Amino acid sequence: MKEAKQMSVSAIQDGTVIDHVPASNLFKVIQILGLDRIENQITFGTNLESEKLGRKAIIKISGLFFEDEDINRIALVAPDAKLNIIKDYEVVEKKVVEVPDTIVGIARCMNPKCITNFETVTTRFRVVSKKNVALKCHYCEKITTQENLEIF
Ligand code: CTP
Ligand code: ZN
Repeated sequence: MKEAKQMSVSAIQDGTVIDHVPASNLFKVIQILGLDRIENQITFGTNLESEKLGRKAIIKISGLFFEDEDINRIALVAPDAKLNIIKDYEVVEKKVVEVPDTIVGIARCMNPKCITNFETVTTRFRVVSKKNVALKCHYCEKITTQENLEIF
């Protein structure tokens, strides 16, 4: 007999549900969105089964709705993330994330000689490829690719 589908993390009344986050990057998403610094109720589940991702995480933030610009910052570490906007317990909108054109202060430049690696300068990149992410450093012009991408 087929069991009824159950939610592994309780439903929320109002807010944002970020689904399909790779479990391995859950804490990076939390960090990028600054969720450790807000007072909203947040619940998350991790290492949940997902056909696409193997193990996924889901984050539910009550009472918070993100600007596209802010939420798109997670695309580097959660490219398949699906956002569900919840109002009065209903999903009123679904969105996907998109890698932005510029990345400020999330990734490290892979060039050890880059000024951003030895002075307190915020990193800044132009996204030259969105599919297989490639970031061109504003300061040294070296390319940081998906393979050597380091998030801080
Ligand atoms: N959700 C929630 N609180 C609600 C309504 C929905 O936390 N009041 C969550 C669900 O748990 C789910 C996500 O929001 O993780 C999307 O909800 P829904 O569209 O109903 O689920 P699915 O059809 O499974 O979504 P999809 O297949 O698009 O991932
Ligand atoms: Zn650089």
